[in-house]
Amino acid sequence: MIQPGSHLLGLEGMGAREITHILDLAMSFEEILERSVKKVPTLRGRTIVNAFFEPSTRTRVSFELAQKRLSADVVNFSTGGSSLSKGETLRDTIANLEAMKVDMIVVRHSMAGVPHMLAMHTSASVVNAGDGSHEHPTQGLLDLYTMRGRLGDLAGRQVTIVGDIAHSRVARSNIWGLRALGAHVTVCGPRTMMPKRVEDLGVEVEYDLLRAIRKADAINVLRIQFERHGTPNFPNAREYMRLFGITNEVLRHTKPECFVMHPGPMNRGVEISPEVADGPRQVILQQVTNGVAVRMAVCYQFAGGVTQGTEEESAPPRVPASRAASGRPKPGSAPRVAAGA
Ligand code: CP
Repeated sequence: MIQPGSHLLGLEGMGAREITHILDLAMSFEEILERSVKKVPTLRGRTIVNAFFEPSTRTRVSFELAQKRLSADVVNFSTGGSSLSKGETLRDTIANLEAMKVDMIVVRHSMAGVPHMLAMHTSASVVNAGDGSHEHPTQGLLDLYTMRGRLGDLAGRQVTIVGDIAHSRVARSNIWGLRALGAHVTVCGPRTMMPKRVEDLGVEVEYDLLRAIRKADAINVLRIQFERHGTPNFPNAREYMRLFGITNEVLRHTKPECFVMHPGPMNRGVEISPEVADGPRQVILQQVTNGVAVRMAVCYQFAGGVTQGTEEESAPPRVPASRAASGRPKPGSAPRVAAGA
């Protein structure tokens, strides 16, 4: 089981029990977000630095909201306003953060492995908010949470990930997480965007979009990572849309209950049509909403929420057994609220 003070560097190697524990915690925090006063004292006295060395909208705001909902002291830090722009090395920046006795560092960086390097040089908990093309574990967890919320147990479910697999940290975290929970994963995209030996990750590879989505319970559409392409990997956006874009016409070939996810930001008209992006089959903004509860669970778990204050103050609200078992509320079951939360 995850120890307070440990790191969340990726979903690779994480087992079903640990993942399910975080998803269940997120379910208990979700209830707080429905209240008129969306704040609990769970991380009072804890200091968290959000260090974003790469642009972000969803992840950064979501982490900050999650931390503030838990009453942590939050400091936001980005490359432009830091001494990195004056030539300071990342190693020295980390040493300085460490010297200020922070409890947790949430880090996003364009280079794979930076959170791992940071974890070796700090006693704070490190949470990876996306490192290059490697992993984006909290996006993976919120995607799992969204799928579990709609499908219940993910074991045996079929999830198809479509797009720029080679450059996608979201794809990798989804694959590790889904495989750990027993789901079947198919990846689909142009050959130029498919990593070598991707089958070794335990996924099926399909280059024909209609075959890839036919049996899917969920489709996760990836953003084309134009900024990570050295040279163009496809002739033009129209050609990509014709072969791999998710449109209403493509969705006619899926199971009727199959839903569409996208981590954002979207390239509308390239990997997803505006009709699908705004249509009844998508759950894209639901993913964003779920991201706050999932990141509350991550901050609680990794910033050591149980070690601060009294047990009662620190504990997250309890989830009724009816919801925790399936990931879906039973009709008519209202979440219970713990005292002090
Ligand atoms: N999904 C995601 O990571 O979005 P941001 O880049 O806006 O954080």
